[in-house]
Amino acid sequence: RLKIHTSTEFIKKSITNHFTEPFEPRILIICGSGLGGISNRLDANKEKLVIPYSDIPNFKKSTVPGHMGTLIFGTMNRTPVVLMNGRLHGYEGNSLFDTTFPIRVLDGLKTVQTLIVTNAAGGLNHDFQTCDLMCIYDHINFPGLAGKHPLIGENMDEYGPRFLALSDAYDLELRKLLFRKQRELGISRKLHEGTYCFVSGPTFETRAECRMINAMGGDAVGMSTVPEVIVARHCGWRVLALSLITNKSVLDHPASVFDENPVALDVGIANHAEVLENGKSASTDVEHLI
Ligand code: 6GU
Repeated sequence: RLKIHTSTEFIKKSITNHFTEPFEPRILIICGSGLGGISNRLDANKEKLVIPYSDIPNFKKSTVPGHMGTLIFGTMNRTPVVLMNGRLHGYEGNSLFDTTFPIRVLDGLKTVQTLIVTNAAGGLNHDFQTCDLMCIYDHINFPGLAGKHPLIGENMDEYGPRFLALSDAYDLELRKLLFRKQRELGISRKLHEGTYCFVSGPTFETRAECRMINAMGGDAVGMSTVPEVIVARHCGWRVLALSLITNKSVLDHPASVFDENPVALDVGIANHAEVLENGKSASTDVEHLI
């Protein structure tokens, strides 16, 4: 709690020192892999404040290529927002407390009440194509079900309840708004609605794991977002989450020694370069939508 408070106070002071008028961010936007361009959508003619994570007490830095490490305060269509350009993942060795720490810190400002979170994810649903988008309407938290969960430990009652309900964690009104805006803006890129399955990484899933997750109802799979969503819900925020499908997961069985015509071994194997490359091509639509 002391750590959270110290960081909140640092940010409050930075805001007061920087902006000429009171600045009260309403929305936290977390930029996923290759989606840092969202920051280009901040109103150019308005003041903004960039704080490197390394300047903020107790903030950890992302070590992943494609993830910067800055907190950006500014306005988007005149709405004051704060952007996390670069996020932390559990697989970097961060505890889930550290991964979700920025949410608690920003909640301390008492003005942020909405989380918009983006990510790059692998597509498992057969209808999904590379560079499609998916609005998350539910999730499967594999690490959470197995005891690695951001709310384990003494409950912080000042934020939320011990036993937080997560059915309908993804705000229906915000989802409707997203689909409406897609139509209004004439964005023809396919926007699905589906279930995001959170895995710890850092390995990509095996073929068998992909089939299992698919059979269990996961439409997309990724290594982020769910811890942040859970803590944001614990803080009482509304949540909108958007996945960019950067690759199709391989659901075929591996080549067998008994196959006459074994499947090609190098087709569709996920890699981070592909994730970033495909992210680039679809990211303008994501930025526009956000
Ligand atoms: Cl295929 N899997 C996971 N776990 N994360 C991803 C991904 C796949 N593609 C992008 N991110």
